[in-house]
Amino acid sequence: MFGSTKIPALKIPKITPAAPAVPATPPVEQAPVASPPHGEAPAPPAAPTPVPALKPPAAVASAVAKANDRSDEFYELKTRIHKKLVETLDLAALSKRTGDDVKEEVKQVISSLCEKENALLNFNERQRLINEVLDETFGLGPLETLLKDPHVSDILINGPKQVYVERKGRLSLSNCTFKDNAHLMHIIDKIVSSVGRRCDEVSPMVDARLKDGSRVNAIIPPLAIDGPSMSIRRFGADPITWDDYLRFNSVTKEMVTFLQACVVSHLNIIVAGGTGSGKTTLLNNLSSFIPETDRIVTIEDAAELRLRQPHIVRLESRPANIEGKGRIAIRDLLINALRMRPDRIVVGECRGAETLDMLQAMNTGHDGSLTTIHANSVRDAVGRIETMVMMAGFDLPVKAIRQQFASAVHLLINASRLTGGPRKVMSIAEVQGMEGEAVTMQEIFKFEQMGVDGSGKAWGRFVATGLRPKFLDRLKSAGCDIDPGIFERQVLATDEHV
Ligand SMILES: Nc1ncnc2c1ncn2[C@@H]1O[C@H](COP(=O)(O)OP(=O)(O)OP(=O)(O)O)[C@@H](O)[C@H]1O
Ligand SMILES: [Mg+2]
Repeated sequence: MFGSTKIPALKIPKITPAAPAVPATPPVEQAPVASPPHGEAPAPPAAPTPVPALKPPAAVASAVAKANDRSDEFYELKTRIHKKLVETLDLAALSKRTGDDVKEEVKQVISSLCEKENALLNFNERQRLINEVLDETFGLGPLETLLKDPHVSDILINGPKQVYVERKGRLSLSNCTFKDNAHLMHIIDKIVSSVGRRCDEVSPMVDARLKDGSRVNAIIPPLAIDGPSMSIRRFGADPITWDDYLRFNSVTKEMVTFLQACVVSHLNIIVAGGTGSGKTTLLNNLSSFIPETDRIVTIEDAAELRLRQPHIVRLESRPANIEGKGRIAIRDLLINALRMRPDRIVVGECRGAETLDMLQAMNTGHDGSLTTIHANSVRDAVGRIETMVMMAGFDLPVKAIRQQFASAVHLLINASRLTGGPRKVMSIAEVQGMEGEAVTMQEIFKFEQMGVDGSGKAWGRFVATGLRPKFLDRLKSAGCDIDPGIFERQVLATDEHV
């Protein structure tokens, strides 16, 4: 069936002879660590000299106070107008109507309410007020501006006055704020109630989704000590594609070609990475290589994967209801999926008992399955899987778990977010089998961090380690003829750095 599969589009680039060979011990830059004389405890760091608090000049302090007063006034005016708007219009009925004319109608009403308030606003302030009342009415209030920005990938809200955003891998404090805890709670309620959940003292932690598919987690007092807190992982308009990976230097063409061949050839693949390292994005892109002829079942806690193949069944787990009933876990869905005659099973993330089921599925004829786990390196992935299986209460000796793992998984990939934001495919390793008690694996490609540049961003190079995967024959018989030159020991790409 796959004998005729050809690797499309991606051409393996010619390896330039100028690329230097990888030295035996790659010169990864490390900060020199002064070791204390043997047996001695390291000297405690010198006590920092206290820095006297800088007092702003009186004029600046009074300007800041005025600006704060002004912003409080603005908030109050906005709240008053919003309240009057709610009293004046039947917003529930209006929200059912679509089209710009509804917004236009409401805009007119807000405008006349503004006039009645007799507030002293300049043109810009007035426009801002109208837009913010519209955002409060039809959208998610202060979050709307951030949600409209396609470069924002994460929104992290730590109480009403501190909202961080991530753009292009960098976290920064935004100037978006909420009036107070109650305002933020109102927006949280709006989000979670739209997916039929609630966030209150009885269930103070809740997962939800925005209309565009973005993943939301909210946690409120008393669990969140400093006020309601919400984390939004955006899956907006701009999903990251292989072209982006190449553009961001997150991977090299040779690595992509190899990964494509591995997916097409039905290898079982696990992506390991830390929180926010890019596991799901990588899983999504790997899944894009699954041929259209295959029947795919995806299983996730919150549907984040965006597969384009036509023959796909998407399953999503369900948390328990208010009475603690009705929970359908990833594991239940996985067991059910096995009865659905899938060619491929893609599990968003293995976190618990489903891990052993996934290994068993991979071992029992569901080759070509893909998943992610939370682990910081390909080596850690083995230990992590052992822990997850044992913690789920399966009474299996460690060696038996390792054997399951070694015979189930063909390829491990590590995704990482490095200092300053760049995300890299850090390592691609073949799982070879067992030697005694240990799982053996060999790294085929890896990223070596060489340092941190002047702008605080980690930089380094991708290398092919010189080891050839043992499953090359399998790739070949699946029709994926890879140029063996890409496995020769060489530097594949080096990051530009300043
Ligand atoms: N190669 C990349 N370059 C730049 N940004 C990336 C890259 N890969 C992923 N991202 C961005 O990083 C963020 C985290 O990605 P993703 O959700 O895939 O991580 P994750 O490891 O699955 O996170 P979590 O542990 O929270 O599930 C997303 O906003 C995504 O768009
Ligand atoms: Mg994820």
